[in-house]
Amino acid sequence: MTAQIIDGKALAAEVRAEVAVRVAALRARGLQPTLAVILVGDNPASMTYVRHKGSDCESVGMRFVLDRYPADLAEAALLARIEALNADPSVHGMLVQLPLPKHIDTNKVIAAISPLKDADGFHVQSAGALMIGLPGFKPCTPYGCMRMLKAAGVDPKGKHAVVVGRSNIVGKPMALLLLQAHATVTICHSATPDLGAFTRQADILVAAVGRRRTITADMVKPGAAVIDVGMNQDEAGKLCGDVDFAGVREVAGSITPVPGGVGPMTRAMLLVNTVEAAERAAG
Ligand code: GUN
Repeated sequence: MTAQIIDGKALAAEVRAEVAVRVAALRARGLQPTLAVILVGDNPASMTYVRHKGSDCESVGMRFVLDRYPADLAEAALLARIEALNADPSVHGMLVQLPLPKHIDTNKVIAAISPLKDADGFHVQSAGALMIGLPGFKPCTPYGCMRMLKAAGVDPKGKHAVVVGRSNIVGKPMALLLLQAHATVTICHSATPDLGAFTRQADILVAAVGRRRTITADMVKPGAAVIDVGMNQDEAGKLCGDVDFAGVREVAGSITPVPGGVGPMTRAMLLVNTVEAAERAAG
């Protein structure tokens, strides 16, 4: 039996349709939900991401404000711009596209963003809120992964979830969200010996490693839900995940493809966070 494919592209369209309804309701009350993005420099990948964010906003009726600066922008000038956006009541969500040039302290920049407008969910206060179960913005990628599990009919309660990867924006928040959903959670990482011994125990397996074909069929429990957060290139330069899709789909119960899985959902959840910020601002 081959796995159910969790179609991130289709699910993201569903999420956008829900967001569009919420945007329309706010606009009917005279409030135009707005996302502001700051882009420093001309990293080609960042420029592509930001362009997508703009077209996503447009597709749900949200206003998108892009602030572009040259790579030599002074840190103080960036912090001042963030302060201005914090104080601007017409802006509800904001983010600074990463990576930033080396002369700018990324942590300092993220800390300057108002937690009320932290659409990426990267602020320490957002991370802390997630940690202790208070309302706050969730990082878009793990938030999207949770939505994908739900769509696949996978309830984490009582399941063993294994997260491979411990980054602040995927692995750690993913583990916390799964814990909040009553899973038993194991976090593995680059220093974990015999990774397969852990992943074979997973009812839910989240791969956020950053290395192609890290998860092979022999490492997956039959019937498991497999979420592939990887964004790598294969030998031919084509986008591929961390999971050996062709092999693992023959073992897993459900699986997300790359492309067309987690990526589109991450983009959609940014819109969810932004409309939520606007709703909170509207009271
Ligand atoms: N760079 C790559 N992904 C992201 C993201 O989700 N948010 C920001 N701010 N920068 C990124």
